[in-house]
Amino acid sequence: MKLWAGRFSKEIDQKTNDFNSSISFDSRMVREDIEGSMAHAEMLGTCGIIQKSESDAIIQGLKEILSDIESGKLLIDPNAEDIHTFVEGELTQRLGQTGKRLHTARSRNDQVALDIRLYLKKEIRCLQQQIRELIAVLCSKAEAYSDAVMPGYTHLQRAQPITFGHHLMAYAEMLLRDLDRLEGAYRHTDAMPLGSGALATTTYPIDRTVTARLLGFAEICQNSLDGVSDRDFCMELASALSIVMVHLSRFSEEIIMWCSWEFKFIELDDAFSTGSSIMPQKKNPDIAELVRGKSGRVFGDLMTLLTVMKGIALAYNKDMQEDKEAIFDAVDTVKMCLTAFTPMIDTMRVLPENMRRAAANGFINATDCADYLVKKGLPFRDAYKATGTLVALCIEKKTTLEELPLEEYRKICDSFDEGVYEAIALENCVNDRRILGGPASENVKAQAKRVRELLE
Ligand code: ARG
Repeated sequence: MKLWAGRFSKEIDQKTNDFNSSISFDSRMVREDIEGSMAHAEMLGTCGIIQKSESDAIIQGLKEILSDIESGKLLIDPNAEDIHTFVEGELTQRLGQTGKRLHTARSRNDQVALDIRLYLKKEIRCLQQQIRELIAVLCSKAEAYSDAVMPGYTHLQRAQPITFGHHLMAYAEMLLRDLDRLEGAYRHTDAMPLGSGALATTTYPIDRTVTARLLGFAEICQNSLDGVSDRDFCMELASALSIVMVHLSRFSEEIIMWCSWEFKFIELDDAFSTGSSIMPQKKNPDIAELVRGKSGRVFGDLMTLLTVMKGIALAYNKDMQEDKEAIFDAVDTVKMCLTAFTPMIDTMRVLPENMRRAAANGFINATDCADYLVKKGLPFRDAYKATGTLVALCIEKKTTLEELPLEEYRKICDSFDEGVYEAIALENCVNDRRILGGPASENVKAQAKRVRELLE
């Protein structure tokens, strides 16, 4: 049954109905739709727009519909045009004339905008909680491996020594900003569009502050055209989620590298790895690969929202029905990724000996060797050149700076003495980097502590 009977002499064509209908994806907002309708009915009663007894009956009827849906007693009709139509139709079937009064001073345009906002407010809180859990796991791991020396890379070439804890805390910082971006998205979602009507509010003496209070909104949309026709809060959320996925995807890429035999810095728990159907030796990081791959979906969802919205005149246009699948998919995907990703990180086995071994080869203490000469009075450029010559010599002799005899050092620069070996010991190179933001063990612990405090 269509809501817009009257003007029309026929039912909509069945295949076209399938095309037009959004019930297959908006029925997930049934709870929000009903909560919004209950608040609207209460406000109508409070303002004397409908009888108090009618508003009470509507609220009771809606409560029963929700509990019947949740218990499975009432099935959502897949042929309904959308969830709003279905709920109102069901209410009218149950209450007769009284049910028909619910939609007074309301349009599906402000109703759908309300439902999405109510739905996404809850989802943003869940997402933030999941991200907080991941950050907490990173803090624990960082504390446990605050002194695990590993090579830091630029251009994926061994560069300078860092600690595994330091590396993990870099992701914790990114995720903290993700939390903050989600908070921004939440703030912009937390405004109530109800009362905007179809586009131009209404002549009934409604009180929007009543519905806003009942529904727990911090603000009320101040322009009715804006209230029904913008979806910037969806785009903002999708963009914050896209950035979350960029972070998870980079992290995944590193996980994948780290568990290769070439690195073997970590080993994933069996519960978060998969095997091969043909190669008996394989243990694959499928979860990390899927997270990396799913970033593409979320970026796609953002692109969908931007494209749907960019060319439509104010106010509501049916194009906007396309918002829901995109934003729901972005939210679902990120939640799913985090559900698998966090325990994968929590349970991974870290292999600090392998990290230390990789750090020993690749001259990642060359900068420290040059800095040692600078402390002896050489200008940095000269120290840099002398160290470069030493590295070339080591490569030729298939040795390392640590193992090169002092006389070889002194042949290249006579400022070298026994002290150089202490200066280039990797543990010292790392722990002397105690500057704010540095990789020293004590910094990592302090950083993890600070982040934990921020989470509280
Ligand atoms: N299913 C519609 C949507 O998701 C609800 C709003 C319908 N409004 C309208 N004027 N056709 O956008």
